[in-house]
Amino acid sequence: MPPYSMSPTGEEFRLPGEEDYSKEFERLKGAVASQRALGREIVLVMGLGFVGAVMAAVVADATDRKGNPTKFVIGMQRPSARSFWKIPLFNRGISPVSSEDPEVPLLIDRCVNEKKTLVATFTYDALKLADVVVVDVQCDYLKEALGNVGDGRADMDALEESLEIIGQHIDAEALVLIETTVAPGTTEQVAYPIIKKMFRRRGIKADPLLAHSFERVMPGKNYVSSIRDFWRVCSGVNEQARERVVKFLNEVIHTEKFPLTVLDRPIESETAKIVENSFRATMLAFLDEWSVFAERNGVDLIKVINAVKVRPTHSNIIFPGPGIGGYCLPKDGGLGLWAYRHIHGFEDDIFKITPLAININDTRALHVAQLTRDALRNMGRPIASAEILVLGASYREDVGDTRYSGSELIVRRLTEMGGELRVHDPYVLHWWEFEKQDEYPASSHGLKRFFRGQERLKDLRIEQDLKKALHGTDAVILAVRHKHYLNLDPEEVVKNVGGPTAVIDCFGILDDEAIRRYFELGCEVKGLGRGHVKRIKDEVRGTKNPSGSQKVKGRRQET
Ligand SMILES: NC(=O)c1ccc[n+]([C@@H]2O[C@H](COP(=O)([O-])OP(=O)(O)OC[C@H]3O[C@@H](n4cnc5c(N)ncnc54)[C@H](O)[C@@H]3O)[C@@H](O)[C@H]2O)c1
Repeated sequence: MPPYSMSPTGEEFRLPGEEDYSKEFERLKGAVASQRALGREIVLVMGLGFVGAVMAAVVADATDRKGNPTKFVIGMQRPSARSFWKIPLFNRGISPVSSEDPEVPLLIDRCVNEKKTLVATFTYDALKLADVVVVDVQCDYLKEALGNVGDGRADMDALEESLEIIGQHIDAEALVLIETTVAPGTTEQVAYPIIKKMFRRRGIKADPLLAHSFERVMPGKNYVSSIRDFWRVCSGVNEQARERVVKFLNEVIHTEKFPLTVLDRPIESETAKIVENSFRATMLAFLDEWSVFAERNGVDLIKVINAVKVRPTHSNIIFPGPGIGGYCLPKDGGLGLWAYRHIHGFEDDIFKITPLAININDTRALHVAQLTRDALRNMGRPIASAEILVLGASYREDVGDTRYSGSELIVRRLTEMGGELRVHDPYVLHWWEFEKQDEYPASSHGLKRFFRGQERLKDLRIEQDLKKALHGTDAVILAVRHKHYLNLDPEEVVKNVGGPTAVIDCFGILDDEAIRRYFELGCEVKGLGRGHVKRIKDEVRGTKNPSGSQKVKGRRQET
């Protein structure tokens, strides 16, 4: 392990040595003593990742009715070479996570430098000082095969390790609030016994005060708001834990506008999170088969969805892009399946829809590679060695989050088929899933292992200049609905490419006029769920009209 940790901008930080721990604990004890004297509660947030970093700042920003801060927050992050850099940056008031929400850096800076209610540390001894411990470490789900979520397992190592450390250090009266998305049953059947055992070893007779309340945070421009100004569900292992978690959330979240839902048992709160995300994954997966139906039968699924949405009962039907990414939707249902067998001990196979939905979502992007192959073939260009540009690396529009994005699968499959890939994304500077593909998200998690011929992708770099990215491409894949791609002018695109290109629309980005212009300019167009492009092509090329007879070139068809 290197003796330093490097931040994404290349700054190196020496990892703490033995002698640093006692000094750090003394520093914290001093800070906590003066904060207690001000009547503030001490909250420790464990795990300064996407969720924990911002949750820590939201808690540190909490005030009473007179505007006085009520909490002092210690953000705790383990000092690994991979993550230690977050601590010194945080202590300067710099956010360790990049976000499109301008409130994230402002909030962290304000709490660290002005209000002085927020610090970060690496020492587990800090847990001894906490009244409340908020757990925001990861709990992953490892898939062993592409398109088979059932053949996987929950990876609880980081969470179990954290709980053990918590049990070794905390005060018996401290509330432990698990915010991590966990396999239903974890708080009572995994966390409680771990902490209880540690308590027993320490001669503590009291029951651990454990609670669960999941995060509904959404990456994007309302990141802070999605934590602070949003409805929460919570529960505790006993009456006292339930009362404490309700009090805590009432003090840090805007519950007067977004009331809490308090459930009887933690397994209900844990299940609510998994059901919520499985429901959404299922709705998205459901349209995959209709997307293929539309492509094969001259139907524009985008127009169909808009027609259906008019009905208020169906207004949240949404078109699935090239795969359903992000950290949560691809894994959360898997945690449910796994819990049924491995926490609750059932052998039968009750889950049909949830795994099917995740499997469909996990492989939907592969169809984009087929459309690209077919569009190139129609232009007489072999896919092997074709220059292919993917527009958008992230998993959803106008964010820079690339976790499990459909675009990653598109790049991997097309590379396997021999294509030369380039990528443009205005929100993403480094696509770590490729640049560090052997270690990110973790050596055993990456999607690389499901494809052949992936080695050269570690040299893939994100192009920021769209004109440069377009130059000389054989195919352009519109993979994400970033605002930069919604109104691209076909003439400009073809001019920048230097001639006709294949355009693959994965997200209903092109309207019929744009599709028509691309065909008129000699391009080929294909799209997920967009069967009507063939009709427009026939019209433009003058091959036939909708009734099958010869037709005047360029005549407009009503759509
Ligand atoms: N990111 C999202 O959009 C989102 C949305 C809703 C819910 N969640 C859930 O929130 C949880 C956290 O997700 P995240 O995105 O913040 O994960 P993350 O991987 O970004 O952060 C986890 C952090 O915990 C740290 N950590 C691990 N073990 C530790 C230990 N023993 N001591 C101290 N720190 C430790 C890691 O180093 C990392 O910094 C997950 O369960 C996730 O499913 C995430």
